[in-house]
Amino acid sequence: MRAICIDESRNLQLKDVASPSAPPQGYVTVRISAAAINHGDKTFLKVPDAAGGARGTRREGVWGSSGAGTVTQVGDDVPARYLGRKVAIYRSLQPDCPFLGLWCETAQLPYLACLPLPDHVEARDYSGSLVNVVTAYSFLEQAEAEGHRGIVVTAGGSATGRAMAALARRRGTPTVIIVRSAASKAEMLRNGMPHVLASDDSDFIHELEHSARDLGTTAVFDGVGGTLISQMLGALPPRSSIFFYGFLSGAEKVTFHSSVFMMKGATMKRFSNFDSPTVRDEKRLVNMMADLEGCIEDPWFRTHVGQDFDLSEFQAAMKYDATSGRRAIFVLTK
Ligand SMILES: NC(=O)c1ccc[n+]([C@@H]2O[C@H](COP(=O)([O-])OP(=O)(O)OC[C@H]3O[C@@H](n4cnc5c(N)ncnc54)[C@H](OP(=O)(O)O)[C@@H]3O)[C@@H](O)[C@H]2O)c1
Repeated sequence: MRAICIDESRNLQLKDVASPSAPPQGYVTVRISAAAINHGDKTFLKVPDAAGGARGTRREGVWGSSGAGTVTQVGDDVPARYLGRKVAIYRSLQPDCPFLGLWCETAQLPYLACLPLPDHVEARDYSGSLVNVVTAYSFLEQAEAEGHRGIVVTAGGSATGRAMAALARRRGTPTVIIVRSAASKAEMLRNGMPHVLASDDSDFIHELEHSARDLGTTAVFDGVGGTLISQMLGALPPRSSIFFYGFLSGAEKVTFHSSVFMMKGATMKRFSNFDSPTVRDEKRLVNMMADLEGCIEDPWFRTHVGQDFDLSEFQAAMKYDATSGRRAIFVLTK
């Protein structure tokens, strides 16, 4: 079968690799319909340690962590209902297991990395979604377990930010959503999201200080970094924790005076979905997937598709400008 594979120099190549044989215990074989290029696919290609080290043996070197397709075979101990189902896939949900990546015609991976989708949805519309939804869900669980009553979300317009806004609303978690423009703010408000702030507003820091204090939002889920988080630090309530999960501001540095940390008793840490207690503990992972299966149709979880590519066009697909949040996707079966 055709597959995009990584070579020893960490470059991608289109190759012919062996199709998977019958799935082992706990695994499913999936005919891939579409597979998205997400930020992580690019980041980990060049910086394998970007989230603390890659794990799991990548069979045949097949690259790609997100996709969607139809389960064609199930191994022993896989619930029978998976056979023939449309699924959204995020391979890192079982980070230590060997797997066949998703940028290929037929993938094979643990069934717990697959979320069954309703029959009537297009697999393509979920070809990049599960990573973002799982990231948001596992963060909400962790923040709650660490004693936070509410959250502040940066990059509210990103796929992860939107998934977070939708899940927090379902859970009733007080949330301050930060976007970077008046247009994004208007869109969020139109869709019924309360407490949305635009970081380009002259009153932003003042509004953040008031909203965060009034709502008790002490867990900051930060996908931007740089100047934004440096400015925000002084406006956060005492004993806030900043969880860095992404760096959309690129090379910008976070700068702060240590006295702010002393006064506020603030903490900073990284957040990685595959190291979160929800993903690492199989019972919690099963519960999360059951919960998500019940709400995955929410339009806020859909992948924003920018352009379709064939596997043979992988170089153009990797260069596709995804800064608008629209994804390049490999389409394998219509
Ligand atoms: N740690 C983890 O477990 C984990 C998991 C998933 C993703 N991530 C990381 O999370 C980040 C976001 O990923 P994603 O897939 O959700 O992103 P995405 O959907 O591609 O986000 C793009 C959108 O984010 C907003 N944005 C872009 N740059 C921004 C900036 N400098 N400041 C504020 N908003 C900005 C823009 O929305 P508007 O146009 O509306 O402003 C843009 O359309 C990436 O760094 C990714 O690597 C981490």
